[in-house]
Amino acid sequence: MKKISVIVAALMVPGVAMAWPWSTDMMNQPSIKPQEGVMTPFPSRSVPVTGIPTKVSNREETRSMVNPIAVSEASIKQGRNLFKIYCSACHGRVGKADSPVSSKVGAIDLTDGYVQNDLSDGWLWGTITFGSYVMPSYGVVTEQGGSNDLSVEERWHVVNYIKHALVKDAAAAAVATK
Ligand code: HEC
Repeated sequence: MKKISVIVAALMVPGVAMAWPWSTDMMNQPSIKPQEGVMTPFPSRSVPVTGIPTKVSNREETRSMVNPIAVSEASIKQGRNLFKIYCSACHGRVGKADSPVSSKVGAIDLTDGYVQNDLSDGWLWGTITFGSYVMPSYGVVTEQGGSNDLSVEERWHVVNYIKHALVKDAAAAAVATK
């Protein structure tokens, strides 16, 4: 009787109860897990099935590019989210160049006429893609660093946000902090 109560007590301790030879974790299985082994290279000349291919190789070539993504609520919303994540650290939460590091890195106000009227959609996209003088790139990895964190479409969403909602957001933020 004593023996049985010891076994029952042992079974109630999770560590012991799980230690049976047949209690294996479902993680341990013969399938190949993500990042495991050597990735099969893509066949040469393969192209992604999603996304918009681009042929530009520097910012100069982007100046006259036409924005393929229509301005919509959804595009602006996505652009706003990405802007907060990737741009606000230097350019401020609503582009006013008022973040703690804005003046240190020399980030410019993105709500002023220079950016809003003088820079084309293509140039904005090109600046995000290839970076600027101090500003890092978000579409290509270059010798200066940078990243390809933002997809082609995501960069256009950020452009739509800058050109069609940033000024409004900045005005609303200014009222809210008065
Ligand atoms: C690490 C800081 C930093 C981050 C992050 C950053 N920028 Fe900049 N950006 C700058 C600086 C500094 C300048 C001005 C100097 C220069 O042109 O490099 C600038 C300039 C610009 C310009 C003006 C380009 C021109 O032709 O004068 C645009 C547009 C711009 N940034 C957009 C963005 C967008 C959109 C993002 C987010 C995807 C972003 N920046 C993220 C630092 C940054």
